[in-house]
Amino acid sequence: MRACRRLPVPHTPVWFMRQAGRSLPEYLRLREGVPMLESCTRPEMIVEITMQPVRRYAVDAAIFFSDIMVPLKAIGVDLDIKPGVGPVIAEPIRDAAGLDALRPLEPDDVPYVTEAVEGLVGELGGTPLIGFAGGPFTLASYLIEGGPSKNHERTKAMMYGEPELWSALMERLSDLTIEFLRLQVAAGAGAVQLFDSWVGAVAAQDYRASVLPHTRRIFAAVEPLGVPRIHFGVGTGELLGPMGEAGADVVGVDWRVPLDEAVGRVEPGKALQGNLDPAILFAPWETIEERALDVLARGRTAEGHIFNLGHGVPPSADPDVLARLADLVHEASAERTS
Ligand code: CP3
Repeated sequence: MRACRRLPVPHTPVWFMRQAGRSLPEYLRLREGVPMLESCTRPEMIVEITMQPVRRYAVDAAIFFSDIMVPLKAIGVDLDIKPGVGPVIAEPIRDAAGLDALRPLEPDDVPYVTEAVEGLVGELGGTPLIGFAGGPFTLASYLIEGGPSKNHERTKAMMYGEPELWSALMERLSDLTIEFLRLQVAAGAGAVQLFDSWVGAVAAQDYRASVLPHTRRIFAAVEPLGVPRIHFGVGTGELLGPMGEAGADVVGVDWRVPLDEAVGRVEPGKALQGNLDPAILFAPWETIEERALDVLARGRTAEGHIFNLGHGVPPSADPDVLARLADLVHEASAERTS
């Protein structure tokens, strides 16, 4: 929390995107026979899965176990998360009539989220819980394409060719995201992260015109809640400048841009989060150590740094390596500050 606010810290804090999930055997055991989206509606399961990595690793934050598709499912969009594929939408949204499927989210739509966050805040003690939501471009892409997409062609076709429809869709998705974040904070989440994972597919000028106004509105709406806001996307090297202008306190950086380089791209007054290449986890420990120390060194050029991977923990990652990495980040950064 202090690093998000660019205050001095006793050591560089660390957490891992997707720290809860398939890389943990205890997760796989618990989830056996329970579909992904159903697991996100069971408060006890959410609490347990969120706690699993916190017990294993010396991480400084927990990430709420849910999915960016949960609020869409909760307002009645017919969708599923297919193992090995990702989110799949029964009726993709491609015209104005399709927007009718997107009504506002009410707290009563997701009582399990409120219940799980409240339970977690008690269990976590002083460790902050990061709530999250999907960014509007990423949600729009799943809805328009009907599932995962490499090039986001239909999505961009709407963005370029039907700006009014695009804007109306982004408005509704932003409202959904604002409400999903708001109710997590109301239940006790200490920080929030907006995952606009696939927004790196957009050129900077189009990002400014067609995405930034919406993310700006999201972060402005969340500001009065008083919790740190983190903004993350993949492949966003060219977007770090405008993403920094969206209003978050922390900009997440993927592994492609060294953090000291990112410092020059993001406006002053922001902390950075990242950015060890997740693939490094499969290299020998000496290589991991060398690269992690390099991330820490570059991170010291930022006004605040939260150590993370450049994207999520791969399902085949070895939890013992992540445990060792969290300890290394603490030990190496504490030596520097003491
Ligand atoms: O530790 C954590 O971060 C867990 C919470 C979490 C999940 N999804 C659980 C999950 C978070 C923060 C997400 C966000 C999410 N969901 C994003 C943004 C983050 C990112 O990685 O960029 C995106 C793009 C999604 C959509 C989504 N949901 C995908 C692409 C997948 C993977 C599909 C597959 O099987 O490969 C999911 C499913 C999902 N969400 C899983 C988990 C643990 C795996 C499904 C399972 O365990 O059965």
